Amino acid sequence: MRYLTVALTKGRLADKTLKTFEKIGITCEEMKDKNSRKLIFVNEELGLRFFLAKGPDVPTYVEYGAADIGIVGKDTILEEGRKLYEVLDLGFGACRMCVCGPPEAREALEGNRQIRVATKYPAIAKDYFYNKKHQTVEIIKLNGSIELAPIVGLAEVIVDIVETGSTLRENGLQVLEEVCPLSARMVVNQVSMKMEDERIRRLIENLRSVL
Ligand code: PRP
Repeated sequence: MRYLTVALTKGRLADKTLKTFEKIGITCEEMKDKNSRKLIFVNEELGLRFFLAKGPDVPTYVEYGAADIGIVGKDTILEEGRKLYEVLDLGFGACRMCVCGPPEAREALEGNRQIRVATKYPAIAKDYFYNKKHQTVEIIKLNGSIELAPIVGLAEVIVDIVETGSTLRENGLQVLEEVCPLSARMVVNQVSMKMEDERIRRLIENLRSVL
């Protein structure tokens, strides 16, 4: 039996994924050691290998078949646009992709003025403004703390993830439009889905039964 390799998104998503996997009898004790610098973990008995990667790299590993399966946020799947199958909504990590800004930016969103949009997700922002709203905007890519952009005058609005809404509230910003709901998803390499059809389907069914 060859190993099925699973790429997990480092951080909170990996912790939640491991808890969900435990419910269906898939454990990886080694992986829980926060002080370990080890990158790849093997469960010999089940023929599984797990590794941790940065979110945006998970779809890359899966598209190229370096991982058969990936667990990653829908935001990253949309942004990366890789060739893979999205097979299951795991439900956790639920949040929303939104257009946010100060209340006065609402007007700029309604008119056809060219505004600046700051975001960590340029592909999602572009698709939303160009293809759905048919509004020409200038997209500015940032790498974090996106909420700063409208406060310091870099952009009129941002496209960012809203979970509890507290980052927005504490910075005097609001949700102005909703782009799409997000959560953790299971993705599968297109060749693996055919070659390992039975094992992967069983895994999906088992996971679905505990969600
Ligand atoms: C994310 C996101 C928002 C915040 C939303 O940032 O970009 O800033 O969480 O969460 P809330 O609605 O519960 O306040 P993250 O903490 O991942 O860091 P970043 O700003 O560096 O992207």
